[in-house]
Amino acid sequence: MTFRILGIETSCDETAAAVVDEGTDVLSSVVSSQVDLHARFGGVVPEIASRAHVELLTPVIAEAMVEAGVDSEGIGAVAATIGPGLIGSLLVGVSAAKATALVWGVPFVGVNHLEAHLYAAFLEEPQLAMPALVVLASGAHTMLVMMEGHGRYRLLGSTIDDAAGEAFDKVARFLGLGYPGGPAIDRLAMQGDPSAIAFPRSLKDEGWDFSFSGLKTSVITYVRKHPDVSTADVAASFQEAVVDVVVTKARRAAREFGAKGLVLGGGVAANSVLRERVLDVCIADGMQAFLPSRSMCTDNAAMVAAAGWWRLQSDGPTPLDAPAHPGLALPLA
Ligand code: KG4
Ligand code: ZN
Repeated sequence: MTFRILGIETSCDETAAAVVDEGTDVLSSVVSSQVDLHARFGGVVPEIASRAHVELLTPVIAEAMVEAGVDSEGIGAVAATIGPGLIGSLLVGVSAAKATALVWGVPFVGVNHLEAHLYAAFLEEPQLAMPALVVLASGAHTMLVMMEGHGRYRLLGSTIDDAAGEAFDKVARFLGLGYPGGPAIDRLAMQGDPSAIAFPRSLKDEGWDFSFSGLKTSVITYVRKHPDVSTADVAASFQEAVVDVVVTKARRAAREFGAKGLVLGGGVAANSVLRERVLDVCIADGMQAFLPSRSMCTDNAAMVAAAGWWRLQSDGPTPLDAPAHPGLALPLA
C-alpha cells in the first residue's frame, strides 16, 4: 500500500497544495500565485498575503485532492511548511494542516521550507547520488550546502547581505521590469549581451559566502550614469555576474568536498542561464546534475510533501502544539 501525503505550502505568496506518493510520485500539485495582488506594491505585502491564503487555501486543497483522484481515506499524513517565512502566511497553512490531520485521524508533519527546496530534486531523481553539493537560491536565501545523506546537511556558506533572488527582484524593480524580478530579467536578458557591462563579482574566488548587495548598487550607479544604455544589456550583464559567482563557487566547493552531484533548488534555480551553466560544469567535471523542473524550483507543495515523507520516517509525527517558526534555519548535521 503506497503512503500518500497531502502537502501544504503558504510560507510567502504562493498558496499551494499537492498529493505525493512515497515522497516521489506527484499525483497533483496546485499552485495559486498571488503575484497580481502584490505586483503593484513591487513586493510581497505580508498582511495581504495572509488574507489571500485564508481565502485560497481551501479551494486549492480541494483542487489538489480532485486532481489526484483521492479522498481523505487515501491520505496517510498532512505536511505543511512551518518555517521559515512570513508568520501570518505560515499560520494559515499550519493551522489548516493540523486541523485537517486531526479530523482525518492522520499524522501532521511540520516541514522546513529550505529542506523542502532541497527535496524538490528528489521528486524527479529519487536515486540522487550523495554527497551532493546543493545551491539553494531563493528570494530570501542563498546557501551552499553539502548534503551528505537524508536530513544530513553541512552549511558551507550563505549570503552576507542580499539573497540572489532579492538582487534579481531589486534590480528588476529599479529597471521598471515589475515583480517578481527573476523571470522578467531572465526573459529580457535573452535579447541582451551578457558581456556588455563588466559588473563586479563579489567574493567569487574567496570562501563560501555570497554578497549581492554591491552588485545591485553597481547596476543602479551604472544606469544612472548611462541613462541610454540598453536595458536588455544591463539585465543580461547583471544576470551573468550572479550566475558566474554562483557557478564558480559551487564548482569549487563540489571539487573540494568531493561531491558526486550538483543540485539546484529555490526559485532562482528556475533561471535559464544558471541551469545551462550548471549542466556545462557537470559535464566538464564528470558530476551528475540535478535540476528540478522549473515549477518545482519555485514555491510549491509537492516539495513540502516530499520532505515531509522523509521527515515522518526519520522523526515521526510533529506534535499538534508545535508552533510556526518565521526564522527557522536549515537543520544541520
Ligand atoms: O523559492 P521561491 O519561489 O520563494 C522563496 O522561498 O523565496 O523564490 C522566489 C525568488 C524570487 O526572488 C524570484 O525573483 C526568483 O526566485 N526567481 C528567479 C527566476 N524565477 C524566480 N530568479 C532568476 N531567474 C528566474 N527565472
Ligand atoms: Zn521558497
